[in-house]
Amino acid sequence: MRQTLEELQKKAADEIEAASSREEFLALRTRYLGRKGFLTDVLRKLKDVPPEEKPLLGKLSNDIKKTISERIDRAIEHLDSEGKSDILLKETIDVTLPGRRTKYGKIHPVTRVMGEICEIFSILGFSIAEGPEVELDYYNFEALNIPPDHPARDMHDTFYVTDNIVLRTHTSPVQIRTMEKQDPPVRIISPGKVYRPDSDISHTPMFHQVEGLLVDKGITFGDLKGVLTYFLRHVFGKETVLRFRPSYFPFTEPSAEVDIRCVMCGGAGCRVCGQGGWIEILGSGMVDPEVFKVVGYDPEEYSGFAFGLGVERIAMLKYGISDIRLFFEGDLRFLEQF
Ligand code: DAH
Repeated sequence: MRQTLEELQKKAADEIEAASSREEFLALRTRYLGRKGFLTDVLRKLKDVPPEEKPLLGKLSNDIKKTISERIDRAIEHLDSEGKSDILLKETIDVTLPGRRTKYGKIHPVTRVMGEICEIFSILGFSIAEGPEVELDYYNFEALNIPPDHPARDMHDTFYVTDNIVLRTHTSPVQIRTMEKQDPPVRIISPGKVYRPDSDISHTPMFHQVEGLLVDKGITFGDLKGVLTYFLRHVFGKETVLRFRPSYFPFTEPSAEVDIRCVMCGGAGCRVCGQGGWIEILGSGMVDPEVFKVVGYDPEEYSGFAFGLGVERIAMLKYGISDIRLFFEGDLRFLEQF
């Protein structure tokens, strides 16, 4: 019996040594120490041994039971702690590494320049007025004194929705809508999208304009010059040189286009100014009495000036951008520079 016990002990030790998984250890425990296990089996036979051998054999089998049990416990414990350190190793977070940066969006250059323009005019006391982009022919043309045979009314220059509804070709109709709604004095600017069937390096079918209108008693061309000079020197710098050049618009009389001395070459002549040294920047003029009559203002009592400018054009000059289409391609490499 003693020999059986010793063999059992050796066999158990070997098997524990060979086992490697938790399941295997648990199976060994059942096989050796369980109710039908090898050791239990041997112990049951203890009652048949001579009484004088019983104490010694009893002690031996208990010792073996204890040893096997302890070994299995230790092996499982070891396995568990190995597993934990494995997890710890795999899932470590290096808190000293720099965090991943979230990409921030940027304000579109056109929106940015539009905001700047609105800010300058708000300092001068202008408020913001808005009008629809899908506009009646009446507001876009007729009320602005644009005759039926004016080239701007051509299919090639205007997107027609129906015979008398268009995508507005300029922000000037907001002048009419504002004056229809309120009595003078009026001091508004109107930023927004406008549409023309045009597409090349300096034209896109949609672009942005800012319209301006000031009406009150005793407004003169001197006020127009003062306001636009203040504005352009704020946008392009206080050394900016301006030129007011006689022009024609159906809704202003007299009319003037305003040029600035070329920001690229300083007036010497370059590709940007077409060698002329000047860059046309906006249209303006004193509100035509015909327009006042349409909205019911008395041209004998009130006078005013109006102007309209292209936002992309100003942004292109400010940032040195040579192709207007870049604004609308959504290329992040371009947009991230602003
Ligand atoms: N509406 C004109 C255009 O789109 C720009 C303009 C010129 C607006 C003179 C005005 C103005 O208010 O007085 O070309």
